[in-house]
Amino acid sequence: MPEPSKHLLLVEDEAALRQAIAEQLGDRGYLVEQADSGETALARLGEFAFDIIVTDLRLPGVDGSVVVEAAVERYPDIIAIVVTGYGTDKDAVEAGKHGAWDFVRKPFVIDDLAARLDSALEQRRLKSENAYLRAQLEERYRFEGVVGKGRAMEQLFQLLETVSATNSTILITGETGTGKEVVARAIHHNSPRRVHRFVALNCSAIPETLLEAELFGHVRGAFTGAVGNRQGRLEQSHKGTLFLDEVGTMSAGLQMKLLRALQEREFERVGDSHTTKVDVRVIAATHNDLARLVADGQFREDLFYRLNVIPVRLPPLRDRKEDIPLLVQHFLEKFRDLAGAESAGRRPTTVSQEGMRRLMSYQWPGNVRQLENTIERAMAFCAGRSQIDVSDLPPEIQNSQEPSLPAAVALPEDGVDLDAFIATIERDLIRLSLERTGGNKGQAAKLLNLKRTTLVEKLKRLDRA
Ligand SMILES: Nc1ncnc2c1ncn2[C@@H]1O[C@H](COP(=O)(O)OP(=O)(O)OP(=O)(O)O)[C@@H](O)[C@H]1O
Ligand SMILES: [Mg+2]
Repeated sequence: MPEPSKHLLLVEDEAALRQAIAEQLGDRGYLVEQADSGETALARLGEFAFDIIVTDLRLPGVDGSVVVEAAVERYPDIIAIVVTGYGTDKDAVEAGKHGAWDFVRKPFVIDDLAARLDSALEQRRLKSENAYLRAQLEERYRFEGVVGKGRAMEQLFQLLETVSATNSTILITGETGTGKEVVARAIHHNSPRRVHRFVALNCSAIPETLLEAELFGHVRGAFTGAVGNRQGRLEQSHKGTLFLDEVGTMSAGLQMKLLRALQEREFERVGDSHTTKVDVRVIAATHNDLARLVADGQFREDLFYRLNVIPVRLPPLRDRKEDIPLLVQHFLEKFRDLAGAESAGRRPTTVSQEGMRRLMSYQWPGNVRQLENTIERAMAFCAGRSQIDVSDLPPEIQNSQEPSLPAAVALPEDGVDLDAFIATIERDLIRLSLERTGGNKGQAAKLLNLKRTTLVEKLKRLDRA
């Protein structure tokens, strides 16, 4: 018995036979739609993502093998079963070449077809389940691959637990290297969509002119170089999750098209007149301040609200230094595992206390990615020793020390220039606040209990000084 939601497209030109098969498959729980020709089938495939297609091989006009090829190209996970009229092995081999899972010879009894469908569905289920089980075994943390136990991360995990189960659109913001992509993947793997695909598209890595086709796909001849039909990332993520990375860099035109796709859950491939429907969950990420881009007129406000349904903000590493030891341990293990059993024994297993202090006082502008790279590099430097020490760290981290202000103020014998002295302290505190907030003047002002405008004024004065 199939799951209740198995949509099946049945392509057969002989009306009576088609009707009979449709009814019997319907009785077995499939949601059957009928097409009387290859042309009709192709049109329907353009509009709807079927789970299964059963097609006669010999059809007047567009042939069954063409239909299978188109179906598999559009939906790589579709189960395609071909019905061969003349029953030669050659036909079966041909059908297989076009991506069919299986074939049945005419005349057949419905039980035979049903058995093949069951087996194909079971194989597909096992395939995705195995992948899922494997992923679960690897899961050693509350959210796969996302390490952290401090208060900020604990709050994040709670939020992720709630939102993963939903279909809500999520907007992840955070500085470079804070783990936007790991979090997006973790959400997908903790969602009911985990058996389907997680498809990522980095909007800033692809030239603007190609981005539209990359996202929506294209049909043959849509533009120079479009030699065949191609699925876009949106279609590839059907039933799964689409991760739109660096979404802040999209052009105005594309923003509009994306908005429509998100609103209607349908779109056209570039150069195509057919509308394709998709069922995707969208997770977007950006290191930009999107609200600021909206205010500056560079990002559509309506698209921003579409994406920002659930905002997830990833804190910079310097604001959650309590997670550093755990992350360090995680990366030490990761790179030991990668090194393989043979050399793992010669790899360091810990970081000296002094080393850890330096790691924890550094400001980490590159966040977790920079920490990861630092550990990998340090492990290479201290080959043969069991402990990473200060000297294995890059100079800027070796030299990092929480800058300390004079603990007690003493009045020198010959007095002091009070204004100059206070100005020095002011300058130091402003510098520290900006360092800690990654240059964010608003947050820095908060740390100093100043209005943002006051801080900006002071900075201007310091610049002139
Ligand atoms: N919480 C975390 N636990 C474990 N590893 C992490 C965590 N956060 C980030 N990483 C690791 O740090 C690296 C950078 O993470 P990721 O690519 O997700 O960052 P990002 O925010 O997408 O960065 P960018 O804006 O530069 O694309 C990855 O190798 C990732 O595995
Ligand atoms: Mg990223």
